[in-house]
Amino acid sequence: MISFEFLLLNFHFNIMAKDRILVIGASGQIGVELTIALRSIYGNNNVIASDLREENELLRGTGPYVSLDVMNKEMLHVQVIRQNVTQIYLLAAILSATGEKNPNLAWSLNMQSLLNVLDIAREEKLDKVYWPSSIAVFGPTSPKKNCPQQTIIEPTTVYGISKYAGEFWCNYFYHRYGVDVRSLRYPGLISYKSAPGGGTTDYAVEIFHEALEHQQYTSFLKKDTYLPMMYMPDAIRATIELMQAPADKLSIRTSYNLAGMSFSPEEIATEIKAHIPSFKINYKPDYRQAIADSWPQSIDDSQSGKDWGWKPEYDLPVMTKDMFYHLKHDKQFEK
Ligand code: NAD
Ligand code: SER
Repeated sequence: MISFEFLLLNFHFNIMAKDRILVIGASGQIGVELTIALRSIYGNNNVIASDLREENELLRGTGPYVSLDVMNKEMLHVQVIRQNVTQIYLLAAILSATGEKNPNLAWSLNMQSLLNVLDIAREEKLDKVYWPSSIAVFGPTSPKKNCPQQTIIEPTTVYGISKYAGEFWCNYFYHRYGVDVRSLRYPGLISYKSAPGGGTTDYAVEIFHEALEHQQYTSFLKKDTYLPMMYMPDAIRATIELMQAPADKLSIRTSYNLAGMSFSPEEIATEIKAHIPSFKINYKPDYRQAIADSWPQSIDDSQSGKDWGWKPEYDLPVMTKDMFYHLKHDKQFEK
């Protein structure tokens, strides 16, 4: 006789086995780490990495990879059907600093990629879609400290405008068509595995590499420019926790505020000096200063805590120690 436990196990296995995830933009800063994390949960072969760029070397041999331009809707649709995809994580985008250099391209990629994915998700009745927004939705008229979930939102960068518009497309597809699309407003992300892709917060990654190689760094932001930041392991955990949360717990269908820590270039330099006493920082602000000045300094993410239990683990000292440990000891960073 078949036991209840066996049936339950089999049911659970079928649920897990049926998840087929397509990560678009998998060779980017978040994509590499998110793909690795998703593969460890859903199985290597059930997470298909895709990008316009070549496969990131950290992903090579860990699971399927397809070369894909998200702007080509037909090809995307073919892949979704061919690979039996049930969930899409859309990470392809042009970030804030690069966006200001080419506003038309940023608007076109950031909007059209989302609309292509949402349309296909609706047509193919996909289980879930993930699409990240950013603290860049906030503008100079938003509160600077503990910026709330709902507030004045008047972004001044093309990147911020595209993220804010995208949030409302997600909300629209959820309410009008029942597409279960979920989103987080990431702060600036700091990682040691993959390089950042053209954002205003990139200095907080570059500074670690320069500290190790040259014991000095020239910051493109002023010393007292506070910005909301987060260590990548927290961001990956937040993404997976949000995607695994029961749908009826989620009260926000635009995008959730998310916070980790907040610091200035001067503060991170002081923390780095504790590890490398000879480290020196100089300041030479460029066009990215105006972008940073338009964003809040810190974020109130209490709604994420209430709805799906979010709590960050890393602060500046713990992150700094962990960054240096991995940059010094991980094989891929050996010179
Ligand atoms: P990234 O630039 O490092 O990676 C984006 C990837 O998308 C790249 O590998 C790129 O080759 C790929 N891509 C670009 N155009 C494509 C196309 N047409 N088809 C397929 N792939 C394409 O960016 P990231 O930092 O990993 O960011 C991922 C997402 O998270 C973006 O939506 C970004 O706005 C958001 N976000 C990132 C941060 C951060 O600090 N990294 C903060 C807030 C929000
Ligand atoms: N890190 C991102 C950027 O600076 C924030 O979305 O563009």
